[in-house]
Amino acid sequence: MTEPWYPIGAADDFFDDTPMPAQAGEHALCVVRRGNHVFALADWCSHGNARLSEGFVEGDDVECPFHQGRFCLRTGVATVAPATEPVATYPTKIQNGTVWVAVPSAPAPAAD
Ligand code: FES
Repeated sequence: MTEPWYPIGAADDFFDDTPMPAQAGEHALCVVRRGNHVFALADWCSHGNARLSEGFVEGDDVECPFHQGRFCLRTGVATVAPATEPVATYPTKIQNGTVWVAVPSAPAPAAD
């Protein structure tokens, strides 16, 4: 089954290596633009109750603002403790200046 695509904003409204929040259906996202590519991850940190969109980009990772756990922008894999569990990542595309994200119809489970 193909996931539905959602427009989440104009590409020019996302700044390079700057995590920003977005909403696609019922999914809260952390979005990071890098040149002509956009990364979309689940916004809630897998370690606690923090939004990755309020964090920072460090190299190829997004860093959680609470305990500085990190997640790979491309895969969502936890790369720096205390984060150990991955966060979901979603396909993206830029089409006619708009950023689109494909997410499942059902929302991702919330972090504990
Ligand atoms: Fe994100 Fe702890 S809440 S690393």
